[in-house]
Amino acid sequence: MIGILDSGLGGLSVLREIHRLMPQHSFLYIADSAWCPYGAKSYDQIHTRVTTLVDHLIQHGAELIVIACNSATIACVEYLRANYLIPIVGMEPGVKPASQITTNGKVGVFATEASLAGAKFHRLLNTHAQDIEVITQPCPDFVTLVESGTLTGPAVEAAIQQYITPMIDADTIVLGCTHYPFLKNTIAQLYPDKHLIDTGTAVAKQVQRKLPTTQRITAPPQQLFLTTGSATHASQLLPQLCPEFSAHQFSTLSENT
Ligand code: DGL
Repeated sequence: MIGILDSGLGGLSVLREIHRLMPQHSFLYIADSAWCPYGAKSYDQIHTRVTTLVDHLIQHGAELIVIACNSATIACVEYLRANYLIPIVGMEPGVKPASQITTNGKVGVFATEASLAGAKFHRLLNTHAQDIEVITQPCPDFVTLVESGTLTGPAVEAAIQQYITPMIDADTIVLGCTHYPFLKNTIAQLYPDKHLIDTGTAVAKQVQRKLPTTQRITAPPQQLFLTTGSATHASQLLPQLCPEFSAHQFSTLSENT
């Protein structure tokens, strides 16, 4: 079973890519919605939440874990890889592909505050962005909008216009948080000339490479959704965010089990 976690529903943008590539694999997705957003939390707080959820996923049989959250990866993926035996696949803002695609040498990065402050993010810039100009922008409203199922309309457009202003000259924009791909269509409609980069597909390929060959395949695959927040709210949004799972429901994660 593949274990996947995020601060909320954003990681579903990664899950849908994993499912597209490996539809026969079972998964358990945990949305830590009671603690969302991670982007404004300290690394200690994120670390505590993520290790709790990783333990939970392992207890439920996860053989590989996807940290479908840039903020959580930046806060603690190194700790997780050093302390857990199973493969841990993380996310990072797609600065590398953006640096290869830009033609004017200007790249914007939308990400959370926690991601942009991380040493791991600064190492990423040093490695892949030496020769380009990078403009960064935290976008907390994007997370709030996606968590409320607002993917189009005036509030989304106003947030996009505000956040894009500092990077209006960039020809390439990195969607460096797993919530943001759900706004990709609206961003593309407003700014059709910009390249928009997200790394969900690359992460899905990495999951395929890292899956233990002993991974058990059950037919039909188990597809489970848990949340630390409101299961009713998350279940209502699931068909909108991932129509392929519209017949599924979230259940409440009890942290004592
Ligand atoms: N989806 C998360 C990320 O990729 C974080 C959103 C948040 O909780 O602030 O960084």
